[in-house]
Amino acid sequence: MSDSLETLHDLFVHELKDLYSAENQLIKALPKMSQAAQSPELKRAFDTHLRETKEQVRRLEQVFKALGEKPGGKTCKAMQGLVEEGEELLEEDADPDVMDAALIVTAQKVEHYEIASYGSVCTFGRVLGYDQATEILKETMAEEERTDKLLTGIAEKLNVQAKTADEADESESSEDRSEAMTDRPMNRTSSSGNARGNAGGNQRGRTSTSRSKGSSGGNPGGSRKRSTARARR
Ligand SMILES: [Fe+2]
Repeated sequence: MSDSLETLHDLFVHELKDLYSAENQLIKALPKMSQAAQSPELKRAFDTHLRETKEQVRRLEQVFKALGEKPGGKTCKAMQGLVEEGEELLEEDADPDVMDAALIVTAQKVEHYEIASYGSVCTFGRVLGYDQATEILKETMAEEERTDKLLTGIAEKLNVQAKTADEADESESSEDRSEAMTDRPMNRTSSSGNARGNAGGNQRGRTSTSRSKGSSGGNPGGSRKRSTARARR
């Protein structure tokens, strides 16, 4: 890094260059993430954020222009690392639901990184009296925060789906249950260490607020619910 950081302005520009690199890397990564996503809602979230990210790059260029500075010349290594980690996850042989969850955690790490950076540059911009630049950057900040919340919402639905299948398993015989344990990695993850040596009662020990209602005893709709959850894949 050859830029000297004598003033807060220098640091402001340095961080903007970092963000410019980060956003451009994300433009390349998001289509792959969208392609790997199974949930239509998650795909949509990635596609929307790709459009937003292109606009965010344009906004950064606007800020550079207003400051009489040039973008580029810097590679955001943090984003490089986050993208690399995401790519490693994409290579895993994963259950589609679990892959969606993996894509969400990757995307949320990215969003949190960006939120931290935009938060700082918005503050620096305000301190430096760069009102126009700050307003532009705040728009992007709001988009990143919205995206993060949206991803949390999608993740919560994935968990609900897993729980529903889980409840359905309770009404099946222990043989069926052990079959379900092997073909639903999401369950396996949440009950790790439980599956062996506790035959028949393997899922009872877990705390679940939704389990206490409607799922105990019989649950005639249980298996149907599970096949619905599967059919949705
Ligand atoms: Fe962004």
